[in-house]
Amino acid sequence: MLRGKRIVVGVCGGIAAYKAAWVVRELMRRGAEVRVVMTKSAGRFIAPITFTGLTGTPAVVDLWNPSYAGEVHVELGGWADAVLVVPATMNTMGKLASGVTDDALLATVACARGEVVLAPAMHHLMWNRGSTQRAKDALAQDGVTFLGPVDGPLASGESGMGRLMEPEAIVDGLERVLGNGDLSGRSILVTAGPTVEDLDPVRFLGNRSTGKMGFALAERAAARGAEVTLIAGPVALPTPPGVARVDIRSARELHAEVKGRSADVIIMAAAVADYRPKTRADQKIKKSGVRTLELVRNPDILAELGAERQGARPVLVGFALETEKVVEHARGKLTRKGADLIVANHAKDSFGKATNVATLVTAGDDVPLDVMSKPALADRILDRIHALLSGDSR
Ligand code: CTP
Repeated sequence: MLRGKRIVVGVCGGIAAYKAAWVVRELMRRGAEVRVVMTKSAGRFIAPITFTGLTGTPAVVDLWNPSYAGEVHVELGGWADAVLVVPATMNTMGKLASGVTDDALLATVACARGEVVLAPAMHHLMWNRGSTQRAKDALAQDGVTFLGPVDGPLASGESGMGRLMEPEAIVDGLERVLGNGDLSGRSILVTAGPTVEDLDPVRFLGNRSTGKMGFALAERAAARGAEVTLIAGPVALPTPPGVARVDIRSARELHAEVKGRSADVIIMAAAVADYRPKTRADQKIKKSGVRTLELVRNPDILAELGAERQGARPVLVGFALETEKVVEHARGKLTRKGADLIVANHAKDSFGKATNVATLVTAGDDVPLDVMSKPALADRILDRIHALLSGDSR
């Protein structure tokens, strides 16, 4: 949340300028008060009136506009908790790094009393140019934070490093920089994705978990200020910004990683294989060979954590993916595994989908939730975890 935060958004002239409108909306949706300052060339890509309309305050473009009573750049720089430049172009980065202040945006950054955050976007050749990289290093040394760019499709039709970070991720990153998330100072360990149990060098036993829910939890927890470690099975998802990621393959590897760490909260969102093949063949198994698989139990990580825990920490959160009697089975797991919260869901609502329908099961109650996106559900789960951490409910 950014309630009460004052953010100046500085918009530069690049094709990604239109995305600055999304960033402004998202900042406001999270409670920030926003004012916009633009370069002249930004106005060729998106009209100042768009930002005036969104924020309810005239977008500042011209430092010399006689209607500004005082020094608008000093006023804006002093007002803002953060100046967020989005998109930051090569031109503006170069000027900022060398102290040029010949427009309203540059002068405002120069007068910033709070954080300065840059979200660059440009062609990959411009981003990789020595002068841009030198500007980035110099600005970083001066305490400027960079959000992106990321690798991906560019306006030119090519793909490469230079794409603007997604608007929501930029706002998440800004929340982290301002360090005012309700989970700041908390360490959260999240496990995500499937575990994979190898039979031989080419075959394995696995499951259909995509990791989306665990990654959404890691991303939202980091955006809310937590120090997040994400232990992930084999999935095709990018690491969320600000999250430390460790990749694992089997349940035993996951077990070793979890047991080697401590945290205020452990969220077991991984779909852990309950069994593994008794032996793993070094060579590919031939069809003339074994036809029966002998399986042995994997450790139940959540149950172990629950049994070993002394006192109220870490807060333990598990998932129950069921196909019938969803809440009843989830409550059984809550007790059996000694967890504080079980997120119960039906396989048909969850697997591989962007949305989910869940019930939050704790010792005290069951809270059924509506259908919502996985990031939105992640926030509801984290709200509950926040309450558990504060000892409000159990
Ligand atoms: N889990 C775990 N270690 C395992 C299996 C599961 O830590 N070996 C965790 C999962 O990450 C999840 C929760 O336990 O948070 C529930 O997993 P699930 O497989 O549904 O529970 P089981 O006890 O295996 O129950 P079932 O009889 O439904 O298989």
